Amino acid sequence: MLSIKVLLLGALAQCAWALVSDVPGLNGPIPVVPDTQGSKTRPSDFIHPGLWHSHSDLETMRNNVLGNVEPWKSTYQAFSYDSFSQSSYAMRGPFAVISRGGISNYTSFQADTRAAYHNAIMWYITKDDAHWKRSTTILDAWGSNLTNIIGTDRSLMIGLDGDLFVNAAEIMRWEGGWVEQGAKWQGGSGFSIQLYWLFARQSVIIGQANYGIVSIKALLSFAIYLDDVAMYNYALYAYKNDLCAGIESTIDSSTGQSSESGRDQSHSMTGLGWLALAARVVNNQGYNLFTYANNLLLKGSEYTAKYNLNGTVPYDPKFYRCEAVLVNGPWSKISTDQRGIQKQVWDILHYSAVANKLQNPWTLKAKQATDALGGERRVTANDMPSWGDLFFATKG
Ligand SMILES: *[C@@H]1O[C@H](CO)[C@@H](O)[C@H](O)[C@H]1NC(C)=O
Ligand SMILES: *[C@@H]1O[C@H](CO)[C@@H](O)[C@H](O)[C@H]1NC(C)=O
Ligand SMILES: *[C@@H]1O[C@H](CO)[C@@H](O)[C@H](O)[C@H]1NC(C)=O
Repeated sequence: MLSIKVLLLGALAQCAWALVSDVPGLNGPIPVVPDTQGSKTRPSDFIHPGLWHSHSDLETMRNNVLGNVEPWKSTYQAFSYDSFSQSSYAMRGPFAVISRGGISNYTSFQADTRAAYHNAIMWYITKDDAHWKRSTTILDAWGSNLTNIIGTDRSLMIGLDGDLFVNAAEIMRWEGGWVEQGAKWQGGSGFSIQLYWLFARQSVIIGQANYGIVSIKALLSFAIYLDDVAMYNYALYAYKNDLCAGIESTIDSSTGQSSESGRDQSHSMTGLGWLALAARVVNNQGYNLFTYANNLLLKGSEYTAKYNLNGTVPYDPKFYRCEAVLVNGPWSKISTDQRGIQKQVWDILHYSAVANKLQNPWTLKAKQATDALGGERRVTANDMPSWGDLFFATKG
């Protein structure tokens, strides 16, 4: 008798877990923001595919790979041998509940989203159906099984791995004709329901410094996939104006200093990479954020590249991030912690400057120093997409 009860309870619990539930309580409505340049007014204003890669970006990538043009050719060669790029990649998930950190199947989500994205790019370049299947089966499996993301680092995880995932979905949907499994108007399961409730709604609370930037850049991607005008305008406005995560609160407009320059160099670099991804997405929607506020992002890139190449830069101890106290700040001096150009952010920053015909001497030097070490190739986490000479390369 007892065992039957337990079985029944188990079955009921499984049913409950099979639905994305319980999330709306975490966040209220998307705040209404003032109109800002680049805002959308209706869903049909969105351009698809239009996150990290527009249709013409994808064509440029494919044509240069097939035409053996550098740097696409050799980067693609390495990319195509990467384990995440294989159509035979063995999926590690899906799981029902994940969180960032040791407790929780996080690395399987991290790996599977990476593989879904790599296979989407591989499919676009090769048009091999096996890649189409691998990418979309990963999207559908997680899309219909994942019911909750928990823990304090959830918005960070969503902003990184979730953004990679939606980039795979955008390519497969708009270029590959993928129709996701399981989505019904009654709710329930399916990629876009997961995207809306688990990823997008939980990113609406924008945190401070990089924590906030990651949500802003991911919200832009999510909003475009979902054709959500209010969400997009909210994230765009935050990129410009948020007092703890917007570009003017994270990069000093007079010098280019990062609000985390005193903390360590790795956070300073990562923030620049995420702002650059946001700017790329918005650029694909027809508005230039890269040159926003007198090329402020480039100014930040030049400052941090110079310092990490052992150059001397001015430092203002009064320019620091919100909640600095949480991370042992504010800081009286610029930090030498993790000094060096190790972060994979320079390709996108350099190529964005080139596309805008802007001089970027230190950013270029940082890119060249990265290239001398083998280029943006070693994928160990999803902080950045990596493979910048394939994904973001442009000819002036
Ligand atoms: C991963 O998820 C499965 C099923 O949801 C669970 O049984 C397993 O314990 C989880 N692993 C970790 C490390 O939490
Ligand atoms: C869950 O994932 C598996 C693949 O592991 C898939 O076969 C299944 O259709 C997914 N969805 C549900 C609701 O189980
Ligand atoms: C900067 O200085 C460090 C320590 O002296 C050195 O290891 C590193 O190679 C230098 N970097 C560059 C780009 O010169």
